[in-house]
Amino acid sequence: MADNTSLGAAKIAKNDEFYTQYSDIEAEMNAYVEYNPDVFRDKTILLPCDDPEWSNFTRYFASNFERFGLKKLISTSYAKSSGSQQLTMFESSSPLFDVDKHDTHGKLFTLTRDINGSGNIDLDDVEFSGYLDGDGDFRSKEVCALRDEADIIITNPPFSLLREFLAWILGAGKQFIIIGNIHAISYKEVFPLLKNNKIWLGPGFPGGNAYFRISEKDIRAFASGVYDESTGLVKFRNVGWFTNIDHGGRHEELQLDTMAHNLKFNKKLRKKLETDFGIVEYPHYDNYDAIEVPMVDAIPSDYDGMMGVPTTFMGKYNPDQFEILGIPMASSNDGSLNLGIDYSKHIGYKQDGTKTGRTGSTFGACPVFERNDKKNIIYTNGTQTVQAGSCERVFIRHKKGASAE
Ligand SMILES: C[S@@+](CC[C@H](N)C(=O)[O-])C[C@H]1O[C@@H](n2cnc3c(N)ncnc32)[C@H](O)[C@@H]1O
Repeated sequence: MADNTSLGAAKIAKNDEFYTQYSDIEAEMNAYVEYNPDVFRDKTILLPCDDPEWSNFTRYFASNFERFGLKKLISTSYAKSSGSQQLTMFESSSPLFDVDKHDTHGKLFTLTRDINGSGNIDLDDVEFSGYLDGDGDFRSKEVCALRDEADIIITNPPFSLLREFLAWILGAGKQFIIIGNIHAISYKEVFPLLKNNKIWLGPGFPGGNAYFRISEKDIRAFASGVYDESTGLVKFRNVGWFTNIDHGGRHEELQLDTMAHNLKFNKKLRKKLETDFGIVEYPHYDNYDAIEVPMVDAIPSDYDGMMGVPTTFMGKYNPDQFEILGIPMASSNDGSLNLGIDYSKHIGYKQDGTKTGRTGSTFGACPVFERNDKKNIIYTNGTQTVQAGSCERVFIRHKKGASAE
């Protein structure tokens, strides 16, 4: 079975060819439709970076065209994508088919009506509407015009262009549901939008595991155990859905226990605190006026102050329950929450006492604890010994003040 990996590897390989599974699209869209059955009614949906025969986005929305009451489905493909290079029935059987343009031009597909007279509008009615003038790059004038025509943009965009893709959607003020690297949470262009509830995460992939189909020629790029031969899929742990369309998950309260009960009964938390801090209490950071909460289910219901929680919290964030205050990356915040303590005079030592040659300046804005976990490098200035914690934190606070449950 394939193991976890990071999208970083995909980026290094400059590989954007990951194809989303039908079941993942279905599960995600169900959440929006369950919350608002009319969410797609009378809407024009643009699926850029897609090819109907290769990409499941077009298949899914074409198959659900009538159920959702869609007005129009537009799908564009990118000439350089693996999927697009394969000749599809939609294209080859069309009078517009031009073998010379097949490899170099993006393609346009639309669905608005029952062209085959079957009585239903579905996948069989998707029309190849011809070649784009260019390669189908989402930034091109012609795809921008299609974006402007659309109400909602839905796709799994090229992972390496996520920032640009989001800006492309938001600049035009459109609704969207797109797949992206969860690390994008901390981008300076993205975090303020999450904090101010302008965008949020969708329900996401089951268990946080996203499986994508890849083209055969890319299999070699995943020799590190990421690719599962038996399924033909690659697995990523750090991928989610970003959206500005509401869904029920955002309105479900996280069920939490008091601080005292967590410390007494939450076995995973107790173990983590014992191992990392040698004491069963929620540690307070040295450089933030906040406590460390190492797991989302251990957020205490009765703590009024600021808490540093893992970024996976963003997938469970209910804006009526919590307020997001910031993240360690000051450049992504309105203002830094960091207390500005200077650790440059703290010298790094390995546990065996040898100097590392590094100082506490390497902490950057990451949360720091006064501690020695007896495992990792310590930094000391003679009077204070500190170690950095995980930087993958979001600072939050209970919205209406804490209430013991
Ligand atoms: C992550 S894949 C997803 C494909 C498809 N949307 C799916 O989910 O199955 C992203 C696709 O975007 C294409 N792509 C890369 N750069 C692009 C660009 N500048 N404009 C449009 N599409 C692009 C890639 O070739 C790739 O096929």
